[in-house]
Amino acid sequence: MDIVELNATARALVAPGKGILAADESSGTIKKRFDTIGVESTETSRRDYRELLFRAGGIGNTISGVILYDETIRQSAADGTPLTKVLEGNGVIPGIKVDLGAKDLPGAPGETMTEGLDGLRERLAEYKGLGARFAKWRATYSITDTLPSRYCIDVNAHALARYAALCQEAGIVPIVEPEVLQDGTHTIERSAEVTTEVLRSVFAELAAQRCALEGLLLKPNMVLSGYGSAYPASIDEVAHATVTVFRETVPAAVPGIVFLSGGQSDELATAHLDAMNKLGQHPWKLSFSYGRALQTAALQAWKGDPANVDAGRSAFLHRAALNSAAQLGNYSPELEHTAS
Ligand code: 13P
Repeated sequence: MDIVELNATARALVAPGKGILAADESSGTIKKRFDTIGVESTETSRRDYRELLFRAGGIGNTISGVILYDETIRQSAADGTPLTKVLEGNGVIPGIKVDLGAKDLPGAPGETMTEGLDGLRERLAEYKGLGARFAKWRATYSITDTLPSRYCIDVNAHALARYAALCQEAGIVPIVEPEVLQDGTHTIERSAEVTTEVLRSVFAELAAQRCALEGLLLKPNMVLSGYGSAYPASIDEVAHATVTVFRETVPAAVPGIVFLSGGQSDELATAHLDAMNKLGQHPWKLSFSYGRALQTAALQAWKGDPANVDAGRSAFLHRAALNSAAQLGNYSPELEHTAS
C-alpha cells in the first residue's frame, strides 16, 4: 500500500470547489432513470448519455472524479476514445463501483447485506489496469423503531472494511458508503441515533482490518427527518445534526466526507451541503458524490434527443457549479436562477 499516493488521490477528490459525480447506475437502475424520460436503455443509449456528461465543457472545474459502472469503464465514446480517457483528458479521475448490490439478509426481514467480496482482489487489479483510481461499495440500512438490527450493522461494517482493505492493497482509494436510508416517518433524532451507531461500527471495523484512514473517503447519508415525516427538519437542523454526528464518529484523519443525495430534491441536497460548510472549519472536507441530484435536470433536458445534448450538458454543469459553490459554503438559492 502506498499511503502517500492514496492520500493524494483522496485529497484530490475533495479539492476546493470540487466533488464527485456518481454515474455508476447498474443496468437495472439506469433503465429506471431512462424510463422517466421515455428512452430505451441500450448499450448505445447508455454510452451516449454518459458521453454527454463526461464531455461537458469544463467538467473538471467542478467535478473531481466520476464513479463508473462495470459496463461503462469498458466502453468507448462514439469516436472510439475510451470513456476513461475522455475523463482523464478533462482532468477528472475515473472510479468504479465494485459491490454487486444489496441482497436480502438471511434471517433479518427488511434488511440487506451487500455482496461482492468473492474475487474482489482480482477484479480490483483489472479495474486498476482499466484506469480506476478509486472505488465505491454501498451498504444500506433501513430505519424503523427497531431496525437496523445489530446483526445488519455488524455484517455490513465487516464487509465494508474487507472491501476497503482490499482496495488499499491494490492502490485504489475506497469510498466507504454506509447509507442509512431516510425513507419513513422517523424523526431527525432517530436518524442521528442510527447513523451514529452505524458509523461507530464502520470505523471500529476499519481499524480492526488495518485500513489507513488517510487513504479513504466516507460517503454517508445526511441526517434527515424521514421523507414521510409530518415535521420535516429545517436546513439548519439538518446541518447541525449531521455535523454533530460526524464530530462524534469520524476521525479527523479521514480526508473527506462526500455525501450521497439519497432522493433529496436537487435544491435541498445543495442547500444542506452549503449549510454544513457554512458551519466550518471542520477536520474533514465536506463535499458531494451525488447521483440523482447531479443528473435529474440533465436527463430531463436531454430526453434522448441528439439535438438536446448541449441543453443536457448545460443543465448538468449548472447543478455541478451550484454544488461546487456549496462545497465552499458560497451557495445561495438566488444562484439557482443564474446561468452556469
Ligand atoms: P444518489 O446521490 O442518487 O443517492 O446516488 C449516489 C450514490 O452513488 C448511491 O450509491
